[in-house]
Amino acid sequence: MFGPHQKIILHLLDIPKMADALKGVVMELQDSSYPLLDSVVATTDVQTAFLHINVAILVGAFPRGPGMQRKDLLKVNVSIFKEQGEALNKYASRDVKVLVVGNPANTNALTALTKASDLPTANFSALTRLDQNRAQSMISEKVGVSVENVNNVIIWGNHSLTQVPDVNHGYISNYPQRDLVSPIKSAVEDEKWLNEQFIPLVQNRGAAVIAARKLSSAASAANAIVGHMRDWLLGTRDGEVVSMAVYSDGSYNIPKGLIFSFPVTCRQGQWSIVQDLKISPFIQAKLELTTKELEEEKQVALSFLN
Ligand SMILES: NC(=O)c1ccc[n+]([C@@H]2O[C@H](COP(=O)([O-])OP(=O)(O)OC[C@H]3O[C@@H](n4cnc5c(N)ncnc54)[C@H](O)[C@@H]3O)[C@@H](O)[C@H]2O)c1
Repeated sequence: MFGPHQKIILHLLDIPKMADALKGVVMELQDSSYPLLDSVVATTDVQTAFLHINVAILVGAFPRGPGMQRKDLLKVNVSIFKEQGEALNKYASRDVKVLVVGNPANTNALTALTKASDLPTANFSALTRLDQNRAQSMISEKVGVSVENVNNVIIWGNHSLTQVPDVNHGYISNYPQRDLVSPIKSAVEDEKWLNEQFIPLVQNRGAAVIAARKLSSAASAANAIVGHMRDWLLGTRDGEVVSMAVYSDGSYNIPKGLIFSFPVTCRQGQWSIVQDLKISPFIQAKLELTTKELEEEKQVALSFLN
C-alpha cells in the first residue's frame, strides 16, 4: 500500500465486545510474518488507537439490519463517526489521511470531517474505488481484454445505488491492436448495454455480493482500499484518473461541502479533481439524483449531530 520498503505500525481498534476477536486478528498478523509490519497496537481505547496516526482507514460501521430505516442507520453511524472525527481532531497527526469505508461511507466521512474542524478538509475521503474496479472489470469482460487495459472509468457521487458509473472519458489501451487506443464506447459498440445494463450492474454489485456471500465484499474491498491509499500517497500514473469521494469545492456544480466521488489525479500526497470533462445530458440527470440523495443524507446527519 505504501510502497515495497515502507514499514508500518498498525493500530487496530474495535469495540470492547470484540476484544477477543481482535486478539485472533493479531495472531494471524504475527503468523503471516509480514516483513513490513513493524508492530501492532490492538486496542478498544479510542485515544490509543488514534494517537499520532498518519493514515486512518475507518471500516467499523453499524450494518443495516432487516427492516431498518435508512434514517435509523444514519443515526447510529453518526454517533460512531462523530466520536472518530473528534478523536482524529485530538490525537492524530495533523497530516493524517482518512479513508472512510464503513457505510453510508460518504456521509460518515462528512460527519467525521465536521467534528475534526482543526484538520484540513482535503485530509478526508470515502471509498468508491471498489465501484471503479467493478466497472472496469465488467468492461474488460464485455470487450474481451485484460482489465489492465481498461482505463479511466469514473464513478461520480454517492457510494450507493445512485452512484454514476461513467465510461465517456475511459479508453482501452492496446486495442484493437498493440499501441492503439480506443474509447470504451467504441470498443463496447453497444450503447444500449452500456446505458441499460452496465450501469445498474455496477450499482447493484455490492448487493449481489451480499446476496451470494451473506456478508459484504471483503477481499475486493481490501484490494480497493490498497489502491485508493497507494494512489493518494504515491501518486497516480501520468494520464491515469481514479475515483475518490472527496470534499466538493463546487466543481461540476456539485454543492460545496458534500463528500462526492469525483475523478481525481494524485501528486505528492494531494488529490485534485480533474476539471473540464464534458458531461452528457444522460449522465447529468444521474448526477442530479445522486447529489439530491447526498444532500438529504447530509441534512439528516447534521440534524443528529446538532
Ligand atoms: N465503501 C465500500 O466500497 C465498502 C465495501 C465493503 C464494505 N463496506 C462497508 O464497510 C463496513 C464494514 O464491513 P464489514 O463487512 O467488514 O463489517 P463487519 O461487521 O465484519 O466488521 C466491522 C467491524 O467494525 C467493528 N466496529 C463497529 N463499530 C465500531 C466502532 N465504533 N469502533 C471500532 N470498531 C467498530 C465491528 O465490531 C466489526 O469488527 C460496512 O459498513 C460495509 O457496508 C464498504
